[in-house]
Amino acid sequence: MISLESSDLISTGTVRDCYLHPNNPNLVIKLPAGEKREARLANIRELRGYQILMREHVDLFCISHCYGFVTTDRGTGLVCDCIRDDTGAVSKTIRNIIATESECDIRYNLQVVEEFCNLLISKNIFLFDLNPGNIVLKRMDDGTYQPVVIDLKGRYENHEFIPLSSHIAYFARKKLRRRCDELIDRILVYRNKGFWL
Ligand SMILES: Nc1ncnc2c1ncn2[C@@H]1O[C@H](COP(=O)(O)OP(=O)(O)OP(=O)(O)O)[C@@H](O)[C@H]1O
Ligand SMILES: [Mg+2]
Repeated sequence: MISLESSDLISTGTVRDCYLHPNNPNLVIKLPAGEKREARLANIRELRGYQILMREHVDLFCISHCYGFVTTDRGTGLVCDCIRDDTGAVSKTIRNIIATESECDIRYNLQVVEEFCNLLISKNIFLFDLNPGNIVLKRMDDGTYQPVVIDLKGRYENHEFIPLSSHIAYFARKKLRRRCDELIDRILVYRNKGFWL
């Protein structure tokens, strides 16, 4: 069994706590935050979402890969890549960057995100939970950013009445375009308002 310390906690989302793997700095362990259904199911949804993506694409460099479940003293966790900057620091989400770095170059950030969205659309990489808290910007030594999606459960969860986007590429592409537009809009709104909606 893996023992997790409070100091291993990287960050918390709505339904999961994300810990550094104590035995491997390149991995994280995600644990349900609380007993609610959404929290309990988040890891299995993410693993299923990951498996769907892996069936569609041989090699994806723009996501945090998942490796299955481990037992910890805080419950069963999902092991995934820990995304780090070239300096070794754990990469920050777009949301964190905008919220904590008042001097961040928003135009460059937007350009990076727009190029990333174009790549997802051109390669049919159907990632739907594209909010600024689910994408980290990995800082490279040359000063550029590489976006990496660190939350894949949106690919499995489909709340459409008739889930056409899960089966028909045309609808999936339309949904991806919509999600990309919403992502850009959110970044602008958050930046302009200076707080999180
Ligand atoms: N692979 C990773 N590498 C680095 N940091 C990560 C990674 N996965 C998660 N994190 C950090 O942990 C936070 C929460 O993770 P995650 O998005 O998986 O939780 P969640 O509760 O499922 O999210 P949501 O609020 O979108 O439902 C992220 O916003 C990010 O700061
Ligand atoms: Mg998330």
